[in-house]
Amino acid sequence: PLPVILDGDPGLDDAVAWLLALASPELDVLGVTAVHGNVGLPLTLKNAGVTLALAGASVPYFAGADRPLVRGALTAASVHGDSGLPAENLPEATHPPEAEHAAHFIIRTVRERPHEITLLPTGPLTNLALAFRLAPDLPAKVREVVWMGGSTAQGNRTPAAEFNALADPHAARVVFESGVPLRMVGLNVTMRCIATPERVQALRDLGNRAGAVSAELLTFYAEVYRKRYGLSGGALHDPLAVAAVIRPELLDWQDMRVDVEIQEGLNFGRTVCDLYGGGAQANARVAVGVDDEAFFALLLERLGRLG
Ligand code: BDR
Ligand code: CA
Repeated sequence: PLPVILDGDPGLDDAVAWLLALASPELDVLGVTAVHGNVGLPLTLKNAGVTLALAGASVPYFAGADRPLVRGALTAASVHGDSGLPAENLPEATHPPEAEHAAHFIIRTVRERPHEITLLPTGPLTNLALAFRLAPDLPAKVREVVWMGGSTAQGNRTPAAEFNALADPHAARVVFESGVPLRMVGLNVTMRCIATPERVQALRDLGNRAGAVSAELLTFYAEVYRKRYGLSGGALHDPLAVAAVIRPELLDWQDMRVDVEIQEGLNFGRTVCDLYGGGAQANARVAVGVDDEAFFALLLERLGRLG
């Protein structure tokens, strides 16, 4: 199996994404690193422990950055609830977080197994940027970064910017300019993967705890998406990035140059994507299409494997 480190800000779709990863035999999850984002770091760290317990996984987890590199903190509690995991009867974590900082864990693991490790961030890129700055040799030693974030088109947190990009644009800039092999799974594809009421019911019908909790989380989420966007359910952003590692062929990819706007203003945090290839050399492989049905079938089948 492919060795991966999951990095994110659970966050309800991060939690579903991590369940997908932990249930998938193609992946060997070496560790989970928490970052500020949807809610503050103390909660994303706690939720990391809870998510591992939900999956029955004894994987180590680590606290990372508690704030963006430069800008002020940005959260999304209105989308993810004040706790980040709006569900009843969640299990307690089965083990405490490790003492090592997330960035140090990433550096140590990548150096131990050069060219083998895939980093799978589904939140602001602060932990990766810190690791790349502390260890300039790292981008050349990472197998691949597959990030849920950005967009080839519109944003969600602002008209121009996607939340993970906007929550730390400077960190995103560091990662996109690092030369690391990079795939971006942005809103232009994730907004096509909706947890409709039928799909939520299918998760509930799995009859296991992972399915029940996912259904509960996605029901809370659907309310927000219904009110805000007039959609029938929430977008499965972060799970799609995990699926892109397990089954890249579920998406269509295009190599292009992506730059991150760090000037504060209307376009702050925008991932400026050179879709028509007129500009500089490509630095990312960007998802431009998705087989939404096949993706959801994978998610459902995998969550069904959990206890
Ligand atoms: C991203 O923002 C967060 O709220 C979600 O967890 C996802 O990672 C979507 O813009
Ligand atoms: Ca996230």
